[in-house]
Amino acid sequence: MLAIIGGTGLTQLANLKITHRQVIRTPYGEPSGALTFGTINEHEVMFLARHGYGHTIPPHAVNYRANLWALHEQGAKRVIAVASVGGIRADLSPGTLVLPDQIIDYTYGRAFTYFDGQDRSVTHIDFSLPYSPALRQRILAAAKAAGEACLDGGVYAATQGPRLETIAEINRIERDGADMVGMTGMPEAALARELGLEYAAIGVVVNYAAGRGGNVASVDRGAVGTVADAAMARVRNILGVVVESDAS
Ligand code: HPA
Repeated sequence: MLAIIGGTGLTQLANLKITHRQVIRTPYGEPSGALTFGTINEHEVMFLARHGYGHTIPPHAVNYRANLWALHEQGAKRVIAVASVGGIRADLSPGTLVLPDQIIDYTYGRAFTYFDGQDRSVTHIDFSLPYSPALRQRILAAAKAAGEACLDGGVYAATQGPRLETIAEINRIERDGADMVGMTGMPEAALARELGLEYAAIGVVVNYAAGRGGNVASVDRGAVGTVADAAMARVRNILGVVVESDAS
């Protein structure tokens, strides 16, 4: 089954027909909220709002381990994560949808692995390609079929938050090779890989990163809201087509 993790601006899926909600407990504590089960265009999916349904959990406090564990335990095989990002690369202007293909992790102090217990052997997952190439291709094909532009590829920098970055930090992150910046991409992607889930993310550019796009105060609440809402509607269109090609 396909699972969707909704980020900022996507705490609900309008095209999801809800059948039931289920509270899941995990060995790692509680997920961000109850899992929502339902159908999109007759296809079964499960949905979880990463920051809680009332958007109360900041990026560094999200229980990523519990979230991924719950989805896996309930039978998810594939996870599409939706994540707001700030655009660093010039063509990543607010409103753009982008499918990152690489990650640089700048987060710290988060519970980032399942392989830290005494009872488990040391395991080093292959993370050369952090996003599932097959799932990425399916999303790109769905975007095309839905007539929604979605850029293919880019390096996602995961920062700690909850504050936004300084201009110097964004300059450094850009020199490192990143194209966009967000606060939730890690450890989510790595934990999905540890569980053997196919995982890909749709980045929704909601603002220019600090010092980019000609405005220093890069996050204007009102403008971000309008642009993000329109972009999230486009994400929903893409998800409506992706489910058509979901195998099992
Ligand atoms: N920085 C970090 N995370 C973000 C941003 C940003 O500018 N925009 C949305 N998520």
